Amino acid sequence: MAPAPRPAVPALLDRFGRLHSYIRVSVTDRCNYRCTYCLPEAGLTWLPRQDVLTYEEIARLVRVFAAMGVRRVRLTGGEPTVRRDLLELVAAISAVPGIEDLSMTTNAHLLAPLARQLRDAGLRRVNISLDSLDPERFARITRGGRLGPVIEAITEARAVGLCPIKINMVVMKGQNDDEILAMARYFLPYAETTVLRFIEYMPFDGRWHENVSAAQQREVLASELPLSPMLDPDGPGDGPARYWRAGPLKVGFIAPLTEHFCASCNRLRLLADGNLRTCLAHEPHPNLRDVIRAGASDEELSALIRQIVRAKPAGHEVQVEGGRFFEGVMTGIGG
Ligand code: 5AD
Ligand code: SF4
Repeated sequence: MAPAPRPAVPALLDRFGRLHSYIRVSVTDRCNYRCTYCLPEAGLTWLPRQDVLTYEEIARLVRVFAAMGVRRVRLTGGEPTVRRDLLELVAAISAVPGIEDLSMTTNAHLLAPLARQLRDAGLRRVNISLDSLDPERFARITRGGRLGPVIEAITEARAVGLCPIKINMVVMKGQNDDEILAMARYFLPYAETTVLRFIEYMPFDGRWHENVSAAQQREVLASELPLSPMLDPDGPGDGPARYWRAGPLKVGFIAPLTEHFCASCNRLRLLADGNLRTCLAHEPHPNLRDVIRAGASDEELSALIRQIVRAKPAGHEVQVEGGRFFEGVMTGIGG
């Protein structure tokens, strides 16, 4: 990808000294699955198409962010692969000077036939959601998803080199927490290309009891595999996961409830409708789509972005008991 732009500009720092070099871009709020932990079963309304950022608008915003020091971009949704111009978008973002890493989070249902083209367009890696290896259970958790195409997509992503593939499993008590070891066993033979990550379930509707803490997850793994902490995460700014080795397999734990990572948060979220969320905890500010469509210059956009980032809250207050829920369903903010 292209080298970093010059001259250097002031970095995107917030009031707490956190440097923002990473942005998650939700390219659509739509999804072809309805995971129980993410979306309600019915009553969803999608954004009207004209409210969704066009790929030119997204690419322009990424250029503005890159000029302020953002180096890594992750595409999220909803489900990114349901967006029709995804390939054009990937090509446009990967061509932005300064962007060193472009990855995508996907349920992988539609990924297998797209994987090669995505890689050729400049995508580097994928994170794939996989909460169960049992087809019936998988269908229940995703409300109608099919395990077959997802497994096929994992194989294809590996074949075309969208690596390391990160497999994300949201651990829910009584639903799939008995599969922690089965998942580790399944991916052990692919340790060279695959990282397995366990995610604490984040409550949106008061199901606190479904949280299985990262410490409990590790205990389960340690009952069968030699588990040791890794000192070096994937490199600087790798996000909220803490990594361990389970035998040859690299495993990560994302524990938004029991191991808060707000203090080192380097991420921004650009939503499909042009809202910039600096934190999962909601805070209102001007919508970047409206500002662009009102004719703002790049300078005006970067000034506004700086102002929004400066106002980023210290962290969320969601806890295992008490605390409060996140606002909005997860699909709107892209995980
Ligand atoms: N708790 C934890 N992770 C979630 N995700 C979505 N909803 C939740 C939730 N309630 C994350 C999962 C999923 C990705 C798309 O978003 O990691 O794989
Ligand atoms: Fe769709 Fe991902 Fe949410 Fe599941 S978790 S409903 S695949 S956006």
